[in-house]
Amino acid sequence: MNAKPVILTGHRPTGPCHIGHLVGTLQNWARFQDSYTCFFLIADLHVLTTDYEAAGRIQANTLERLFDWLAAGIDPQRAHLVLQSALPEHAYLSVLLANLVTVARLERNPTYKEQVQQLNLTPSAGLLTYPVLQAADILIYRATHVPVGEDQLPHVELTREVARRFNQLYGDFFSEPEAVLAEQARLPGIDNRTMHTSYGNAIFIKDTPEETTRKVMRMYTDPTRLHATDPGHVEDNPVFTYLDLFDPDRQRLAELKEAYRAGQVGDVEVKRLLAGLLNEALAPMRARRADYAAHPDLVFDLLHEGTAFARLVVKENLAYALRQMGLSAQFKLSF
Ligand code: TRP
Repeated sequence: MNAKPVILTGHRPTGPCHIGHLVGTLQNWARFQDSYTCFFLIADLHVLTTDYEAAGRIQANTLERLFDWLAAGIDPQRAHLVLQSALPEHAYLSVLLANLVTVARLERNPTYKEQVQQLNLTPSAGLLTYPVLQAADILIYRATHVPVGEDQLPHVELTREVARRFNQLYGDFFSEPEAVLAEQARLPGIDNRTMHTSYGNAIFIKDTPEETTRKVMRMYTDPTRLHATDPGHVEDNPVFTYLDLFDPDRQRLAELKEAYRAGQVGDVEVKRLLAGLLNEALAPMRARRADYAAHPDLVFDLLHEGTAFARLVVKENLAYALRQMGLSAQFKLSF
């Protein structure tokens, strides 16, 4: 048996990762790689719950997502990259677990309610059971920890309920996984709303330094300040939220904030400083990303290897769950 605790987390391969993902999520994942057995899942089945017409984009988006993960420090030597749709065991366990959750419970899920409202869509059965598949993703590895953003907490909570229910009915097997939130504050978008690809306010890991600088120069600052000589606010000012994270020179930053408050330094100067620091911090990631992007076959190989390892784990755990639930595996007609 594996002595290390187990992490399972993942993303739907939608668009490229922005630096909100980097600070809020990917750096959080990366720090677990030595002390946990880590499975990082490309949740492509989940894409279909809203984007079932995305067939032509999923593969390209999967690759882009993997480039971003690898760029951000996910290390295939220390973690397993897994493709959800290549392991039917995920979907199979989800069919089993769906019997342990009521429709009412799924309808109460805030993420579901939000999506139905925001996307203004007629929900499919797939969208309703999204969290059951996610619970299967997590439980099939008997994961103990799930590092996620705050938006995923309702899903982890539901996963814990399902695990508990299974254990009560069929004997202790699944761990009740714990969500692990990032320690870093969330990075706002350049317009100071939540950073979101669809808002057009995101800085992407894959942006060029020039694009990054352009975005920083357009950044929202302090709307009450009309001239560089007006006293400025550093609170709720995204330029300073970013500097808090990316400026290693704390002394200089403290002085800069004083000067800004006193109206002694202009937005342009502060933004130039930030653009430089941001590009400096992102440079090694971008270089790594470019290396991987030049060898997509190698990246598919990494996904293949990770998924092959995961297959051993999920087969064994699914067989056990089936047996406990009184199904095929007990007849030894294994497939
Ligand atoms: N719902 C997650 C997201 O939208 C993706 C996901 C699928 C996931 N399965 C998971 C996250 C299991 C953590 C654990 O980002």
